[in-house]
Amino acid sequence: MISDKLSHKEWRWDKSIFSDMKMEKLRQQYRRYINKETREAQKIWLNEMKDYIDDFQGFVVDIATGLGGLFETLLKSKANFYPIATDVDPNVLIWTKRKMEEKYSREFLAVAFDAKHLPFKDDVLNYATSLAGFNNIPVTGLVLEEVYRTLKHGGRLVAMHSFVEENSNSAKLAKQHGFERVWIEKYLINDLTKAGFRKVKTHIVTSAIWAENPMDVLPVAEDTQYFAIIEAEK
Ligand SMILES: C[S@@+](CC[C@H](N)C(=O)[O-])C[C@H]1O[C@@H](n2cnc3c(N)ncnc32)[C@H](O)[C@@H]1O
Repeated sequence: MISDKLSHKEWRWDKSIFSDMKMEKLRQQYRRYINKETREAQKIWLNEMKDYIDDFQGFVVDIATGLGGLFETLLKSKANFYPIATDVDPNVLIWTKRKMEEKYSREFLAVAFDAKHLPFKDDVLNYATSLAGFNNIPVTGLVLEEVYRTLKHGGRLVAMHSFVEENSNSAKLAKQHGFERVWIEKYLINDLTKAGFRKVKTHIVTSAIWAENPMDVLPVAEDTQYFAIIEAEK
């Protein structure tokens, strides 16, 4: 699905990490950088999202599934919908697909694509969701336009998303990396509205001070990260 012409500078996972031993080591390493307050905030955030997932139906696309933190919650849900895992990197998607198939019997689809070019027809999806996927993709406007195009009328975007404060060091760094519009609440609201969405809502569930973490570019240590759920309707 991925065209090198369109997506040649996109994120690539290091292929060598796709073994149980290396992945576990990586997870442990990552966990050590996450402070207690962030861990607790993330738990509250995911629990809040479960209430939204209970209402999901039809085709539900998870943008930037990665290692499947949110996708696993989708598969565990009792709600009646068809989940679609996606990522720009086919290798992480193959890994996650295999792990999820080993654990869950629920049927799902996995499709590799760049979220700036969705390989779906207009007006076909019931829900689009993500856990921090949008936070990891610059050129947010294009991604939101594509999500809008592929959702049915009345279809909804409901995603877990992080914000930082406008005058923070994180905002400065986000700007340097081309992520400014997606990490700052008022710009994201603006871009969602510009893409055509109605009933745009951002609900800040909780927040936590971010600890030094060389494994993530953003946020900057000591800045507050706001854990939100964004909602918008076509
Ligand atoms: C931090 S992970 C997201 C976490 C994940 N949603 C979860 O629930 O665990 C970020 C993912 O975004 C993917 N990504 C980066 N750029 C992308 C793009 N342009 N289109 C689709 N996925 C992209 C990366 O490959 C990576 O797997």
